[in-house]
Amino acid sequence: MHWKTRLLHTRARIPEGFRSLVTPVYRGSTVLFERQADAHDDWRADTEGYAYGLFGTPTVLELGARIAELEGARHTFLTPSGLAAISLVYLSCCKAGDHVLLPWSAYGPNMALKRLLSRLGVEVETYDPMSVDDVAGKIRENTALVWAESPGSITMEVQDVPAIVSAAHARGVPVALDNTYAAGVLFDAFAAGVDISIQALTKYAGGHSDVLMGSVSVREEAMYQQVGITRRWLGMGVSPDDASLVLRGLQTMALRLGHYEKAALEVARWMQQQPQIARVLHPALADCPGHELWKRDFTGSASLFSVVFATGITPQQVAAFADALELFAAGYSWGGVRSLVMTYPSRRDLSARYGGELLRLNIGLEDPADLIRDLQQALAGMRE
Ligand SMILES: Cc1ncc(COP(=O)(O)O)c(C=O)c1O
Repeated sequence: MHWKTRLLHTRARIPEGFRSLVTPVYRGSTVLFERQADAHDDWRADTEGYAYGLFGTPTVLELGARIAELEGARHTFLTPSGLAAISLVYLSCCKAGDHVLLPWSAYGPNMALKRLLSRLGVEVETYDPMSVDDVAGKIRENTALVWAESPGSITMEVQDVPAIVSAAHARGVPVALDNTYAAGVLFDAFAAGVDISIQALTKYAGGHSDVLMGSVSVREEAMYQQVGITRRWLGMGVSPDDASLVLRGLQTMALRLGHYEKAALEVARWMQQQPQIARVLHPALADCPGHELWKRDFTGSASLFSVVFATGITPQQVAAFADALELFAAGYSWGGVRSLVMTYPSRRDLSARYGGELLRLNIGLEDPADLIRDLQQALAGMRE
């Protein structure tokens, strides 16, 4: 054969029997079949075989199986981001004419999806995250989905997920939970009865602010079919290189979560003592809405919490405080090793509910004493 052909059709062989502790990165768009008859078109290729790289290489399927194992799910589908996981849930569960309930505390871009959904004839209505009666009362004949997000994205309300599930299931409506804060491990979504648990693996599983990914985990066969076929229609897949980063992240997630729990509580308790701070919204502290539910339902807390500034402190002062911080970087997302700070000028609705300016902190792996010193110098600057 000409060397040009030899470049593509090789007789070179490598020794068999290689084993290591690391899942290899299997890249591939084209998946090879032994014979034409094997190349059948069946979306179950997702779990039971390989058909096309978009629906999973061994690296991707291993990550999905690992998340399913951690969450106790029938199956976990991986998506290109946490937000893609959310949109996959909507598109799997809703059709034109349907109605969806979403807590007003939900992740902003989830709320923003209502603009896309309204174009498709799906109405999204918000409910009070702390009132099971409110969600139960708003369920209609055409309600196709109830969302829960616990704790809420910025204001950290812990919801009574089992009670919301009972109310929704009594009317035959499935419940989807954004389980990102709990990393799929600090809250047992399926024991609480939810039908779908999504995570932004971007946060704790990825863990190092260098990868975007989401997961959609399901418990029942019917939901597995519904989400699986929708994901296939949408062509949502993830890269094996990204999956390998998340697999790496999982190995140290317990250590990181353990540190974050202790360090975030130390910083949050210190913040509670500061005169400029009216309230600290941290699920493991009594001041947080739903703290008792957190004690009942969660096995730990994580890196994220918010503070409400005292009345009279302006958005400009809060922004200046955040800018004066040296160890907390200004940036979206959370769950990585670096501490982050974010203000929410576009969520006037939330600061109005809590009667003061909101600021969210993500505690990283820095020494908490250094973080407290940094917060102290920035708070001192506010008085000048
Ligand atoms: C609660 C929550 N859910 C979902 C997402 C979306 O994740 P991603 O950034 O991977 O799209 C985020 C991201 O900030 C989040 O905070």
